[in-house]
Amino acid sequence: MPQYKLLLTPGDGIGPEVIEETRRVVAWFAQNRNLAFAMEEAPIGGIAYDTLGTPEPDSTIQKAKSADAVLFGAVGGPKWDSLPFEKKPERGLLRLRKDLELFANLRPALCFDALKDASTLKPEIVSGLDILIVRELTGGVYFGEPKQTTTLPNGEKRAVDTQVYTTSEIERIARVAFELARLRGKRVASAEKSNVMVTGVLWREVVTRVHAKEFPDIQLSHVLADNCAMQLVRNPKQYDVIVTDNLFGDVLSDEAAQLTGSIGMLPSASLGAKDASGKQAALYEPIHGSAPDIAGKGLANPIACILSFAMCLRYSFGLNEDSKLVERAVDRVLADGTRTADIMQPGMTKVGTTAMTGAVLKALDKLNT
Ligand code: IPM
Ligand code: MG
Repeated sequence: MPQYKLLLTPGDGIGPEVIEETRRVVAWFAQNRNLAFAMEEAPIGGIAYDTLGTPEPDSTIQKAKSADAVLFGAVGGPKWDSLPFEKKPERGLLRLRKDLELFANLRPALCFDALKDASTLKPEIVSGLDILIVRELTGGVYFGEPKQTTTLPNGEKRAVDTQVYTTSEIERIARVAFELARLRGKRVASAEKSNVMVTGVLWREVVTRVHAKEFPDIQLSHVLADNCAMQLVRNPKQYDVIVTDNLFGDVLSDEAAQLTGSIGMLPSASLGAKDASGKQAALYEPIHGSAPDIAGKGLANPIACILSFAMCLRYSFGLNEDSKLVERAVDRVLADGTRTADIMQPGMTKVGTTAMTGAVLKALDKLNT
């Protein structure tokens, strides 16, 4: 029996709470599905800065590299807002992405049937929604150089970020999107700003070429990123897979999250390329962030983190059935009317973080008999 090596990086805000709950789900799988996990924990983000003086400890990066997968909580919070840029908690996450070469970020936005009334959009717009945003994660304006602030002779400041993409960076993320589309609705929409940005022009050219050469069975459309943002609230179900760059993907995935009722529901996977032995670096993370306003109160919705573990079972370990089991358990809990505050609706039962996980574990027990 293989032993899966997990590195847990709880981080800041509600990160430690949702990771603790996910640990219970991992333990359930070890106990009930005959799987073996080795779990280790390491500091990242603000807590790492507080204890070790850096948000991106080398030891954590090393452990992440040798793990089969990283389960990441969240980083950041007002406590660290005034730190210089290089010390900010977010650097920890960005370094993990860069050093592990996690170039493909998968962000599914799935509207559970029980939550179609919880969205701020009309239920008919979001019911049955199932889209996948494939975000490029190690390039673009997040990492482009120069990235600096200088002082001009007249004393005013000038800040520069650089948006940069190469052919191969676009090719590899396009392939991930097309391959995933093959397993779903066979449609890809590529979002960029080719009307304004040369990186957008290159993006469109490369995606078009990869499509024509390797994926003629997939339907490809191009959309300007601003229009995509509008279409996502107008008629989100027109999309199957959306492939886009790092910054547009950051924005569009938050928007897509809200379609599903709550950002507290959405998992993500960040994947690298497979090496010769088939090993693939991977990090799984709820997309909600550290939510400092509710941290430590036992109110956070653990579902996004639990569903991130489901993605880990599928993408890192190939355990599709186990992954589906988690998703079905969450579906059942929601259908039963169990709700954390973020997805609370009239007539439902409001619970906190721990009780929500308890409900998921109970549902797992039932589904597993
Ligand atoms: C995300 C987050 C991060 C990002 C932050 C925390 C650096 O917003 O994963 O979407 O901007 O990529
Ligand atoms: Mg974001």
